Amino acid sequence: MAQAKDNIFVGLDIGTTKICAVVARRNMEDGIDIIGLGSAPSTGIRKGVVVNIDSTVKAIKDAVASAERMSGVTVKSVCAGIAGGHIESFNSRGVVAVKSGEVTKSDVDRVLESASAVNIPMGYEVLHIIPQQYILDGQNEIKDPIGMSGVRLEVEVHIVTGAVSSATNITKSCTKAGIAVEDIYLEQLASSEAVLTDDEREIGVCLIDGGGGTTDMAVFNRGAVYHTAVLQIGGNNFTRDLTSGLSTSEAEAEKIKIREGCVMTDLVGPDETIEVPSVGGRPPRTVSKSVMAQILQMRAEEICELFLGELQKKRLFDMLSAGVVMTGGMSNFRGMEELASSVLGLGVRIGKPVNVGGLADQVNNPIYATAVGLAKLHAKNGHSQNIISSGNEDGVFKKVSERMKDWMKEFF
Ligand SMILES: Nc1ncnc2c1ncn2[C@@H]1O[C@H](COP(=O)(O)OP(=O)(O)OP(=O)(O)O)[C@@H](O)[C@H]1O
Ligand SMILES: [Mg+2]
Repeated sequence: MAQAKDNIFVGLDIGTTKICAVVARRNMEDGIDIIGLGSAPSTGIRKGVVVNIDSTVKAIKDAVASAERMSGVTVKSVCAGIAGGHIESFNSRGVVAVKSGEVTKSDVDRVLESASAVNIPMGYEVLHIIPQQYILDGQNEIKDPIGMSGVRLEVEVHIVTGAVSSATNITKSCTKAGIAVEDIYLEQLASSEAVLTDDEREIGVCLIDGGGGTTDMAVFNRGAVYHTAVLQIGGNNFTRDLTSGLSTSEAEAEKIKIREGCVMTDLVGPDETIEVPSVGGRPPRTVSKSVMAQILQMRAEEICELFLGELQKKRLFDMLSAGVVMTGGMSNFRGMEELASSVLGLGVRIGKPVNVGGLADQVNNPIYATAVGLAKLHAKNGHSQNIISSGNEDGVFKKVSERMKDWMKEFF
């Protein structure tokens, strides 16, 4: 079926374990209908960062080709995710005098610019400037000051920076795969878009996206982003723990983890066992499931404790009236909800993509949160598939800075 090009949006999640393309169509309710999904194993990504262009290009082509077959759409441009240890974020504030006594769009642009006048190391660029609140003549918690009267306009923002080289390698891989990158978003902000509700973001929530290579967090309060962080530890660490703990190959450890993985020993019966293939031609062994659960529980506790420490250090813990939402492949472990809740001392739910129509069943798994969120953000901010970047890698940052000005609309 032929589709109007400007109605089709594509999220491309370049993850450590898989590259995933979600094709969506904007629907009558201003939401999206999923019309295609394609996924391919990724071998050129380490801890969220492109380390091998050729294998990444191949995986992008494979994922996009399957999404195209399912949707009948020819994918020309995407909204891509960015992650990795190079991401830094912090809060900043800016202040300007209101020129005409009434706040205009240009005053808002200027105050955002003044908030972003911070020292950023060479080789790094601002990815996102997200307003938290505007303050007009001392009156705070203003979400949209345009049209209001006042003389002194302040803004508090959350700024995310990333390595230019990482973003360049994402656009380069896509360009080589014949696809233009229209925009780049921090992956946990994309996942948040897919799995969180507006209420949760309003009263305070922490999103934790546990992928294969990294575990990313984003804290929201009063509808705005207050903190983002990337932890370079993920599902692959659980696999490695099982590889050594159960003396088996990495491939078998991964299979056991997916099939039987449980992060709470209490949920495993004392007599339950698993068959573990050995290496070097030795016969398989029967191992108690609680041994496996013990290994996984230790790693899950470590990750949750790191997040607890981060929330306490940044004084965010008391902001989280809606608790924690976990997504990404790691949230699929049996017992993860209970374990995270007991370590963090907060309510925890598992987040799968919500509020999407069409082939919603196909993406009903936390591993698709980022790709669905990217497609949603593309639909919110993208103009059309016809707007294709020139293949010039600098173009994305230009686009990002243009978009910064639209954040106000997006997050409030
Ligand atoms: N049912 C499951 N139980 C336990 N772990 C699982 C399950 N399903 C997937 N995983 C793990 O989740 C991880 C993949 O998650 P996800 O697809 O969210 O990662 P990614 O986006 O490729 O990586 P990243 O976000 O770190 O770049 C892998 O380590 C995988 O083994
Ligand atoms: Mg991911």
